[in-house]
Amino acid sequence: MKNIDWSQLGFHYTETDYIVRCEYHNGSWGEPVATHDKTIQLHLSSTCLQYGQEAFEGLKALRGVDGKVRIFRMRENARRMARSAEGLYMAPVPEDLFCRCILLALEKNMDYVPPMGTGATLYFRPLLIGITPRLGVGPGHDFLFAVIPSPIGPYYKGGFNHTTPFIVNRYVDRAAPLGTGQFKVGGNYAASFRATEAAHAQGMSCLFLDSVERRYIDECGAANFFGIKDGVYVTPKSTSILPSITNNSLMQLARDHDIRVEQRPVLVEELADMTECGACGTATVISPISRVIDPDHKRIYEFGDTPGPISTMLYYALLDIQYGKEEDKYEWCTVI
Ligand SMILES: Cc1ncc(COP(=O)(O)O)c(C=O)c1O
Repeated sequence: MKNIDWSQLGFHYTETDYIVRCEYHNGSWGEPVATHDKTIQLHLSSTCLQYGQEAFEGLKALRGVDGKVRIFRMRENARRMARSAEGLYMAPVPEDLFCRCILLALEKNMDYVPPMGTGATLYFRPLLIGITPRLGVGPGHDFLFAVIPSPIGPYYKGGFNHTTPFIVNRYVDRAAPLGTGQFKVGGNYAASFRATEAAHAQGMSCLFLDSVERRYIDECGAANFFGIKDGVYVTPKSTSILPSITNNSLMQLARDHDIRVEQRPVLVEELADMTECGACGTATVISPISRVIDPDHKRIYEFGDTPGPISTMLYYALLDIQYGKEEDKYEWCTVI
């Protein structure tokens, strides 16, 4: 194992020995290769730079109680990346090839999987870009797929006990209802920076609303929203949000614990009837929300500075599966 102070790692890029890359030319994918070189030579007219043909993913490998390494729901990331590719008219990476690349990236960087109990994990950032040089507007026909690994620490230093305040933004739309919000593509994030940076400047994160009526909750920064209302797990249904693999897993665990799940449009005002709520995604699993400020409507929804009981139960239920402490009955983990 590498000599890294794992417990001091933040959510930052740390270089590992290898990345994995694979190219698509003349209608087919080549073989994946692991290289020390983390850079590429790219034509300045490439479709990724000119027209934003770019998609990415994020998933983690963790060392469990039995010393084995587990990758969480890798095939779901593969499927989502294929949908993102199709959404931007790129060649999808076949599911098996995606998984082979992740497994090769893990095998070549096994020394970077942090020990259990440090809060750190090995994160993989799969990336797909269009590399055909083009000046006329249109999609390319050559693509590069790469898997960039990096050991990471908790997103917030306090981990799950760190609660986050959010502020509602009605002045920036992250994505259009039938646009690219459901895909994990760079443009969505660039489009959100004006709002997220304005929120950060006030010490908060940004709560995005639907971009038609601006009455319904869409996403919490780069995470899905869920709240507990009358004991029910409520989470937005919207065509402009990313289908979160974490949220999907939490919904299943909630049902397994006899908690009803409603996936439906969620009005901002419903926050008043929620006892706890959180942002969920790969980075934090659950980041409990302390309060939501709605400046336009002069309202503050308070949830307290400690995680609520249902969030806590769901958080540990998911972590216990990821660390191999509990039975993985849905076979979410690839065990190595
Ligand atoms: C915009 C957005 N929503 C939600 C999520 C959470 O998705 P997941 O649980 O698959 O990480 C992410 C992170 O990938 C994201 O970037």
